Amino acid sequence: MNKEKESKKSIELAINILKKGGIVSIMAETVYGLAVDSSNSKAIKTLFKLKNRPSYNPLIVHVDSIEMAEKFSYFTDDAKKIASKFWPGPLTMILEKKKTKVLSDFTTAGLNTVAVRMPDSKVFLEVITKLNKPIAAPSANESGYISPTNGIHVMDSFGDKVDLIIDSGRSKHGLESTIINLKSKPYKVERLGIITREEIKKETNIKINKNINNLTRKIISPGQLKKHYSPKTPIRLNAKKPLKNEAYLSFGKSKITNNSSLNLSPNGDLKEAAFNLFDFLRKLDKLNKARIAISSIPDIGIGKTINERLKRASHYE
Ligand code: TXA
Ligand code: MG
Repeated sequence: MNKEKESKKSIELAINILKKGGIVSIMAETVYGLAVDSSNSKAIKTLFKLKNRPSYNPLIVHVDSIEMAEKFSYFTDDAKKIASKFWPGPLTMILEKKKTKVLSDFTTAGLNTVAVRMPDSKVFLEVITKLNKPIAAPSANESGYISPTNGIHVMDSFGDKVDLIIDSGRSKHGLESTIINLKSKPYKVERLGIITREEIKKETNIKINKNINNLTRKIISPGQLKKHYSPKTPIRLNAKKPLKNEAYLSFGKSKITNNSSLNLSPNGDLKEAAFNLFDFLRKLDKLNKARIAISSIPDIGIGKTINERLKRASHYE
């Protein structure tokens, strides 16, 4: 078995694998990622194939410092201001890319921009620092499926097809990072996540615009592909109760308790709901019911991100 508990030994092993162009799953504070050396084109091609990810969909590059980010991106004053408040943390910035060998063109899908973030995950940061190179890492799920929030999810998806899975328990947040585009004018959100535009404005006085019509507009960030984060079982949203042969995912007070229903947060805590969302969707998906019915989630704060993910998960073309 290639899944090992986080330890000095498994971290050393990870560094050796990455140096040789292999793939290691590491826990970020958001979700689990599939890490590769961002300069290694061969490793990145293997990664895209493994995930069945379209080659036009660029990866996020993970760094342990602004200094490392400056090796391959033009880190503007605004980027510095934002990083000083939110890094390490679940915030990805799209910046202009520098010409450099540190990044393979496959990492950025040939774009002249690059998405960069410093994760707030001890194990992830340690691997970057010890490798002394930026790490490209998409979420560790098959393209289009639900993101993984623990080591078992990664095992379920890829088994021995990745060289190593470092199991560090459950990711703290359970949803992916917020992506903001600092290359667009005005700045805008490319993907909703943990950190909101309002928080960025409050902390830095920098305005980030909403991404209007994000379900129908032309795809810039394929995290915006319509069908995404989807279980195999169809989803029914805003369900007050489950119908016959439906699994049920509830939120807040619910009278429905049976072995095909789960509650994201009986106390109505949106953070807890985010933490449980992908894990519970995976669990209910395994029941092979006709549908997963999901109760409505308040559309405030991180609830907006949850609803956006659910909308995409329920979108069938
Ligand atoms: O929380 C996270 O962000 C996790 C952890 C592992 O860090 N990573 C993650 O990566 O969610 P991934 O590959 O699943 O999603 C990255 C998103 C994709 O939607 C991709 O299209 C977008 O980032 N992206 C990357 N580079 C971009 C660029 N230069 N311009 C626009 N979008 C970009
Ligand atoms: Mg993903």
